Amino acid sequence: MNRPHSRLLDFLQEFQIKEFLEKVLQDGSLAIAILNDQGNVVAMKTAGGISEEKMSEVFSGPVFSSFRRDLNSDKPMDQVTRAPELPLYGGALTHREMKLGNLVIWIPEEKNPEHGLREFRLIWLHLLDLIGFGFELDNLSSEIVRNYEELSLLYQISVRLGAQPDSHKICEIIVDQVHSILPSTKVIIMVVDEENKEVYSKMAVDGHGKPLPPIRLGHGKGITGQVISTRQPMIICNVHENPAFEKTSFPITSLLCVPMAVGEKAIGTINVGDKIGGAEFSTYDLKLISAIAAEAAVSLENSRLFTEVKDLYLSAVKSLVMAIDAKDPYTHSHSLRVSELSTAVAEVLGFDSRTVEDIKLAALLHDVGKIGVPEHVLLKPGKLSEEEWEAMKQHPIHSTQILEHFKPFKHIAHWVQYEHERHDGKGYPFGLKGEEIPMPSRIIAAADAFDAITSDRYYRKGRSEADAMKILKQHSGTQFDPSVIEAFIAAYEKGKLKTDLPK
Ligand SMILES: [Fe+2]
Ligand SMILES: [Fe+2]
Repeated sequence: MNRPHSRLLDFLQEFQIKEFLEKVLQDGSLAIAILNDQGNVVAMKTAGGISEEKMSEVFSGPVFSSFRRDLNSDKPMDQVTRAPELPLYGGALTHREMKLGNLVIWIPEEKNPEHGLREFRLIWLHLLDLIGFGFELDNLSSEIVRNYEELSLLYQISVRLGAQPDSHKICEIIVDQVHSILPSTKVIIMVVDEENKEVYSKMAVDGHGKPLPPIRLGHGKGITGQVISTRQPMIICNVHENPAFEKTSFPITSLLCVPMAVGEKAIGTINVGDKIGGAEFSTYDLKLISAIAAEAAVSLENSRLFTEVKDLYLSAVKSLVMAIDAKDPYTHSHSLRVSELSTAVAEVLGFDSRTVEDIKLAALLHDVGKIGVPEHVLLKPGKLSEEEWEAMKQHPIHSTQILEHFKPFKHIAHWVQYEHERHDGKGYPFGLKGEEIPMPSRIIAAADAFDAITSDRYYRKGRSEADAMKILKQHSGTQFDPSVIEAFIAAYEKGKLKTDLPK
């Protein structure tokens, strides 16, 4: 039997058809065929002494063929068609004005047409009921599938976003997630910039993930502005017909614009443009993107707050460090420069962004212990006495002791302790050597020396950067770790050691 896929079968599972046929064929001499919307027989059964061969003969014979053509011609869906020669009865199988196929019954021993018609109608209505029920089930199961899809999408995105503090990475995850559920040619994440009273594209990519030209809109402007002020999503089939649309430098026709809101405040929108295949955006698409937008909003807002707090505390640290540096006019901004140099070298060495941040902070605070060195020692122009030098050598230990007491610095405290150790073990205060010295301390040591060489002292002018590089190379393997000096050279050659900070 030919079993093409059809909507009829979606609504009426095969076992339901079989059960139905068994039931209606219990009494009476009948043959029943159910046809799909293509006119193909999807089920066929006989009862009451009609042989299968006979039935097949009828349902492939010329009377049936022309009857089927007749059924498929446009006729009212509630009309019963009769072929008196056999006789055959036929009627449309529909659901909500949609024709799914036909029911055909052959009643060889029909007492009279009225009786046959009544019998046909009974079976027909019963089958229509079954289809209606199947449709409800189908609807229900697709609703369950959709809910599941939505839940798993939310789970996926929340796992991926986690406590991601980097807003750029958050945007990458959002775009990736949108692409995976809604293939489209444009995904744009618009973010409100309250300071400049505008909305700008934090990330805008095409269907291949390639960047699109940036967008900047004045406060409340464009469709995005409307969605932000109303916090209501919009589906627009043709943006050019929308008076609010602001021209973009790339082509776009249809748009799905969903607000990203945290409580009462919209912080931006997710804009999806032109579905691949040209179909219109559906309310289901809107629902899914809204689910992503809700997660994205919380993540982006957390990231903003995190950055704000981090900046605040970094500027507090910088002020503290500058106050210490300021004790000695010759080392003004020394810590800031050592921090920049160490960051550049750490990046060349391939540390992950978190460790680079930690190294930056440790380098910034490396001399914080100088606060415990008496001023007359710190600022002494001439050679230090043995006692004074002993006091000076204690400053890395002071630094560690200060940082250890402050939770955000605890994990970097031990690095500053070794910033004056040497690769050959001739450094202070512990005389550690080689691998015994943590890598961040080795980096800070080289950066510290580079800045000391290039800075002015009351007794000499600062040397050039090229000279400093030469000196570092000369002492590679003795004072400095060769791998750090290699990275230093690479950073220098790439121009990464340039600083705007005053000397
Ligand atoms: Fe130091
Ligand atoms: Fe230093």
